[in-house]
Amino acid sequence: MDLFFAVTFWFATAVITLGLAYKIRQYWRSETPLKIPVTPAPTTASGVVLRMLREAVLFESLFKSNKWIWIFGWMFHFSLLLVLARHFRYFQDQPWAWVTLIQPFGKYAAYPMLIGLSGLLLRRFVVDRVRYISSPSDYLMLIMLITIGLSGLLMQLFFRTDIIAVQNYFIGLVGFEIPPFPSSSLLILHLLLVALLLVVFPFSKLLHAPGVFFSPTLNQIDNAREQPQQAFKFNQPPPVDATDSRGKHG
Ligand code: HEM
Repeated sequence: MDLFFAVTFWFATAVITLGLAYKIRQYWRSETPLKIPVTPAPTTASGVVLRMLREAVLFESLFKSNKWIWIFGWMFHFSLLLVLARHFRYFQDQPWAWVTLIQPFGKYAAYPMLIGLSGLLLRRFVVDRVRYISSPSDYLMLIMLITIGLSGLLMQLFFRTDIIAVQNYFIGLVGFEIPPFPSSSLLILHLLLVALLLVVFPFSKLLHAPGVFFSPTLNQIDNAREQPQQAFKFNQPPPVDATDSRGKHG
């Protein structure tokens, strides 16, 4: 078990690091030939920074489009942030002061996290048009996150695990050592699913988090008149779509 989890977590960490780097590079290099900011859009760079901040912190466009998804989505993401911040202690010998400070109330974050996730899952079953477009992976991702949260909460409340041993184990892994693994069935379930989450994250729709920052409809300045962009360069052939069946344009 010691070696199995060590190899699993080293592998999962490598996949999420390289996978994210690869995906972000791909986003970064994607051409955005047209000005397509969703209006009303900011006309200055600082305005765009503010818009992105509102989007990343408050989920502004989701708020405008659907209040229910916004409530559940925001609840889940904000609680997840607290839960993950609380988890820093498993990777530090002497946790940072703020990590210690948030522990007492951070432990309640599991509840809104699970309520948010359950709401998002219920919506996929109950709302006809959402059920119609939901694929198995949409359900599986939510069920995976719920199981991670629930197994964590059960460990916190009823089936206590030796968290000092968990801390020693993960600090060991960070230094490429393999300390004894504090085996317990809930911890095994929790960690197997966390490893799975790390591996699928860069290649699934969960990647929408970094994707928001590369969304041209949000990150462009509304200055098409001052700085018009060209759809394609003059000396290049037009995109295939713009060519009809006889090879003529228009
Ligand atoms: C290597 C990474 C992780 C380790 C070592 C770990 C370990 C643990 C442990 C030992 C507990 C029980 C805490 C206690 O007894 O007080 C716990 C709780 C919990 N974990 Fe994790 N976990 C990891 C990653 C995650 C991730 C990625 C999530 C969310 C997606 C998560 C969600 C939770 C939740 C919601 C709880 C219950 C609330 C809390 O105690 O903060 N864990 N985790």
